[in-house]
Parts: sequence; C-alpha cells; structure tokens
Amino acid sequence: MKDPLDRLRELLLETGYTIEGVRGRLGDVAATALAREELVPALRATRDGDPLGALIRLWWLGVPVEAPPGLPVAELEAAGLLAAEGTRIVSRVHLQPWETGGYVVSDRKVRPGDPALRADHVVGAGGASANLAQLVSRRPVERALDLGTGCGVQVLHLAGRAARITATDVNPRALELARLSWALSGVEGVDAREGSLFEPVEGERFDLVVSNPPFVISPGGRFTYRESGFEADGFCRDLVRQAPRFLNPGGTCQLLANWLHVEGEDWRDRVGGWLTQAGCDGWVVQRDVQDPAEYVELWLRDAAEQGTGRYRELYDDWLGWFEAMRVTGVGFGWITLHDSGSLDPVVRVEEYGGRVELPVGGYVEDVLGSVAAAHRLTDAELLAARLVVDAGVVEERIGPPGAEDPATIVLRQTRGLCRSARVGTVEAALAGVCDGEYPLAPLLTAIADLTGESGDELPGKALERIRPLIAEGFFHISTG
Ligand SMILES: C[S@@+](CC[C@H](N)C(=O)[O-])C[C@H]1O[C@@H](n2cnc3c(N)ncnc32)[C@H](O)[C@@H]1O
Repeated sequence: MKDPLDRLRELLLETGYTIEGVRGRLGDVAATALAREELVPALRATRDGDPLGALIRLWWLGVPVEAPPGLPVAELEAAGLLAAEGTRIVSRVHLQPWETGGYVVSDRKVRPGDPALRADHVVGAGGASANLAQLVSRRPVERALDLGTGCGVQVLHLAGRAARITATDVNPRALELARLSWALSGVEGVDAREGSLFEPVEGERFDLVVSNPPFVISPGGRFTYRESGFEADGFCRDLVRQAPRFLNPGGTCQLLANWLHVEGEDWRDRVGGWLTQAGCDGWVVQRDVQDPAEYVELWLRDAAEQGTGRYRELYDDWLGWFEAMRVTGVGFGWITLHDSGSLDPVVRVEEYGGRVELPVGGYVEDVLGSVAAAHRLTDAELLAARLVVDAGVVEERIGPPGAEDPATIVLRQTRGLCRSARVGTVEAALAGVCDGEYPLAPLLTAIADLTGESGDELPGKALERIRPLIAEGFFHISTG
C-alpha cells in the first residue's frame, strides 16, 4: 500500500495542480487578484467542480469542496492535512505548488476578517522566500544549513545542490509542516532540528548557510514566523556575528535582513559593524527602505490586522516604540558572508535598488571576487595586471546634438547586477581597448598620449577611478 503523501503527490501532478496548471486555470486577472488576497475572481474561475478546480479551492483558496476522486481522504485527515465537514472536506493547511516543481505546506493564509493568527503560525512561501532563493549561490556543496526553515521552502531549492541538508526552526509546528513539504516534493534525508539560532548545530560547520530569518523589527515579538523576540534588529545582527563560527573554510552564509536607520547614525556603519571582526568577506545590499509608518502598516496588513479593533492601538504602540529609539526608517536587504581565508577581509556595504539579472546566486561568487580583487591588489599589482572589460558592458554617450565630445559617458552592464557608472574619458578609452592582452600600465600611458591627460595625473588618479569599476564588475583581472 502506497504512502498517502505519495498518493497525494501523484494526484496533484496528474490533475495539473502545478504552478503552470494553476496559473493557466485561473488566468492572469484571477491570479493577480489572488496575489492581492482577493479571492472572488479565483472562486469564479474554479466553480465548475472539476478535479483541478476542486484542488485549487481546497488547498489554495481554503474553501470546502466535494472530495475529488482518488483523494485519500481518511489518511490525509489522520495526517492533519484536511478535515471532513459534513459531506465535504476542508483543508487544515495551505498547500501550494512551488517553482522548484515541489509543494509547500504551511498554515492557511490569513485574510482580512479571519480570526487572529496563532502565535506559532507557520507562514507559507512568498516573495521573501523567492528573493532569498534567487540570491543563494548555485555552487554544489557538501553540507548546507537552512536556519529558520518554516514551511521548508529553502530546502526545496537546496535539494540537488547540497549533499546533506540540515534545517532548523524554533517552532516545532514549522518542522512538522516542513516535513510534509519535503515528503510531497520527493526530498528525502533532511536532518530537521528544533532550536533557536545556531543552538541546534553547535560545534558543526557547513559549506552554505541560508536564512530567511524572523527579521521583522517590532516591539512585541508576537508572531514567531516573522519576529524572534530579540531586541530590535538583534536577531539578524547575532546571526551575522555568529555565522562565521559555523562555516567551513570557503563557506558562504546568505540571508535576508532588516535593519534600523537611527537618527545620527549611518545605517552602513550599523550593518557594516555586524560584519567587522567576522573574519569573512562580506557584501551587504540595501534593496529598499521604508519609513516607520509604511513599515508598521506593511506588517499589520501582513497579519490581516487592518480593520480590526486593535489596529490603531498596535499601530500607535509600534510607532511610539520606533520614536523612542529615534528610528527614521527600516532597511531591507541581502547579506552575504564568505569565508575566503584572507587575512585582509573586505566588506562592501551598498545601497542598490536597481533591477538585477536573476538568479543573483548564479554570479554571486563573481561579485564577491570582484570586490575582493579591487580591495587586495596593490597599485603595483594592478598596473601589472591585464584587465578585461566585462562581456555585458555597453557604453552610452550623451551630449548636445552635434557636439564633438559627449557631456557624459556611462558604462552600463547588461547582465548580472546591471549597474551603471558615469566615467571619464580615460576609463571609457580603457573599456574600449582592454581585452586582456596588455598590462594596465602601458595602456594607461597610451591613453594619456591620446587623450592629452596630464602625465602627473596618471596612473595614480586613474587607479583611484578604475579600482571601484573593478569592485563593481565592469573590469575583471584576466587570469589567462
Ligand atoms: C520568515 S520565516 C522563513 C520561512 C522560510 N525559511 C522561508 O524562506 O520562507 C522565519 C522562520 O524563522 C523561525 N524562527 C523564529 N525565531 C527563530 C529563532 N530564534 N531561531 C530559529 N528560527 C526562528 C520562524 O519560526 C519561521 O519559521
């Protein structure tokens, strides 16, 4: 007799309860409305009572349905996945197809008007989950850790890339639901452990640590899925500070984080300070900042608390708490730590909200490598190095029509982080000629002759301007 979860998985796949199947069935309008937590268009699109419509209603929309043929109702009821309600069945969980081809099991989504969330609510996979998954390195590893696994979604992404996976969470219900996600996705052998922060893996080391942590900064710590109960942004700080102790040489830790912007303090110093003394190379990117009111509204909305009797009080308390700490905003972003083994680690902290090529994990090692090369090469080494312009770089020249010289020259990356940089004539000329054949020093001399740039300025001034372009991946050091 087959395991009921295997039978459920087969049925889901056979019925077309997949990302494409659900999207095709709902259509763009209903799918987009659903992303706004508006159910009506999706209910209309699934009212025929056919098996796929019934599965969407049951697992995604959370409404009672007649059991579709083949669903092992009694066994799934015993496993806590659904309950009988008269002649119909209703789900006890949210079960959604995921982009890896697997399934994610979590608590049912909370929508406006629903009863208040339980404190140990297990949140489903969403935008932040996908964001971290896109950031994580694609390099195959031996041992990976997913800290704060929740519904287990990061493990679905790690499976196949990591030979051994450990997943931890402080919430035992999360581990219960994560195990269902893994079973329904055909992922075996995950070592799941209960406990806070790195406690469950004390003394162990990993090649890759990933975490979409409970980063929400709030006064209460009311919901485990988003708040740790640590003071302010202390959970992300401690995670970053402790991570290096759990990395193998060459290992990487990648996480999403929130951090405070406090009056009189540069946020770069705050977050950069978490990484100093870590002994690792680091890359911090602030992708977004919200003002305190926007931030509070976002998270009250996330828990469907707008329109409830406590909304004003919660909002006011939260804002008052921020005010007492002189908080001016909250930053959201990515943190990557890499144990490069260098005695001269480098940490780059930057604000970059621009569009990027996905997945970032496909080139994150190159980003770290560029930052490290720009930092570690001495001037003499740089002048002797052969530079190559990145293959995706294009040049834009802007100026008044008919003018001989452009007013502005911009180098723009068409791949990776898609950065752009305003450059001078020397760097632009260099981008035109450096293909790895000649060292930088003679190229700069030749460019100086051509551009008439003062000999005194070169190469010192040029190196000052070229070094950031190496750090940002416009130029690479040729290894050939
Ligand atoms: C935002 S959810 C992330 C879930 C999932 N990993 C994802 O990417 O969607 C954060 C998870 O951290 C867990 N958590 C909260 N406090 C924790 C702690 N002190 N130590 C470890 N995990 C914790 C929560 O239970 C929750 O499952």
